[in-house]
Amino acid sequence: MEIQSKMWKRCIFLALSVLYMVYSTESKNRQTRTTHSKCYSFLGCFTLDSTMPLPQEPNTINSTTMLFNRVSSGSPVATIGAQTFLTDIKQFGSYVDTRKETKVIVHGFMHSAKTAWVPKIKDELLKRGDFNVLVVDWSHGNGPDYDQAASNTYMVGTELAYLINHMKQHYALNTSGVHIIGHSLGAQVSGHAGHRIHKVGRITGLDPAEPHFTFPDPDTRLDSSDADFVDIIHTDGSVFKGFAGYGLKTALGHVDFYVNGGEHQPGCEEPTPSSINALLHGGVAKSINSPCKFYGHFCSSFSDFDSGHCNGCQGGLCPRMGYDVDRSSQKGSYYLATTSVSPFCEK
Ligand SMILES: *[C@@H]1O[C@H](CO)[C@@H](O)[C@H](O)[C@H]1NC(C)=O
Ligand SMILES: *[C@@H]1O[C@H](CO)[C@@H](O)[C@H](O)[C@H]1NC(C)=O
Repeated sequence: MEIQSKMWKRCIFLALSVLYMVYSTESKNRQTRTTHSKCYSFLGCFTLDSTMPLPQEPNTINSTTMLFNRVSSGSPVATIGAQTFLTDIKQFGSYVDTRKETKVIVHGFMHSAKTAWVPKIKDELLKRGDFNVLVVDWSHGNGPDYDQAASNTYMVGTELAYLINHMKQHYALNTSGVHIIGHSLGAQVSGHAGHRIHKVGRITGLDPAEPHFTFPDPDTRLDSSDADFVDIIHTDGSVFKGFAGYGLKTALGHVDFYVNGGEHQPGCEEPTPSSINALLHGGVAKSINSPCKFYGHFCSSFSDFDSGHCNGCQGGLCPRMGYDVDRSSQKGSYYLATTSVSPFCEK
C-alpha cells in the first residue's frame, strides 16, 4: 500500500515536471515569436508574426471579385470591389445563383485576373458545368514586394470569407458546393478564406507559396483543416532561391500530388516561374476537359517512384490529379511523371 502510494507520488511529480517543461518551452517559443496586430471594424483583427509587415488597407489592395456564369462568361455579371464592399455586397449576392455550385479562382504573386491561365481555367470550368465562377483580382497588393504580398493574403482571404459567409447567411449558399482554386500566394489566400468559413467543400492549392508560410500552424497557412477536401499540386517545391522554388514541398492537403518529383519540370530547364506556370496551368486546365488522366501513384518518396517501385495501381490506389481527383482515395502523397509538351499526358 505504501509502495503504491510512493509510486503514485513519483508519477505525479514526473507528470508535473513534464508539463512544466512543455509549458516553459512553449512560453519561450511565444516570446521568441513576437507578433503585431491591427483591427478593422467588420473584418476583425489581423495578428501576424513580426517577420511580416501587417496587411495593407483594403482600399490600397483594392481586391475585386468578379462573377461569371454561362450566360455571361466573357464579361462579369457583377463585380464587387473593396472601396464599395459593404454597400455592394447585397446586390452582388443577389446575382449569385445559390442553387448552383460555386468555383472561386485566386491568382498569386505578380499575376492578375487577366493573366492567361485565369480566364482559361474560368472558361474550362464553365464548359464543364453550369457554375457560378468568382474570379478574385488582388493585383494592387501582390508584389513586387513579396513580404507585403504575403501579408496581404490575410486581408484578401478574410474579405473572400466575408463575402462567402454573407452569401451563406443571406442567400442560403451551400458552402459544401464551394471550390476554391488558388495558385502560389493565392493558395494561401484560399487557406485563410477556408479557415474563416464553416465549411468550404474543396480547396485546390497549386504550388502553395513557401516563403513566410513554413510555420506548421493551421491558422497561418493552407492545410487540410481549411476545407472538407484539400488537394495540392506541387511542381515548384525545390529550395527557395529567389527565382524558383516559391512552392512548398511539404504535404499540406488530404492528397498531395508531386509532378515529376515536385521540384523542377521537364522542358523548364531554366526554371522560371512562367515556364513552370505554363506546365502547371496547362495541365490543370486540361484535366478539367481532356483525355489525359494524370494518375498519381501512392509512394513514400519520389526516388522510390522514380526507380519503379510504385508504378502499379493495385487496389485502386491511383487517384487522378486535377479536377477529377477521387475524394475517397487514401490520404497521402502521390507521384506522377508527365511529358514536357502540351497536353503533358503521363509518360
Ligand atoms: C479599384 O478597383 C475598382 C474595381 O473594383 C476600380 O474601378 C478602381 O479604379 C480601382 N481603384 C484603384 C485606385 O485602382
Ligand atoms: C450541400 O451540398 C452538399 C454537397 O453538394 C450536399 O451533400 C448537402 O446535402 C447540401 N446541403 C444542403 C443543406 O442542401
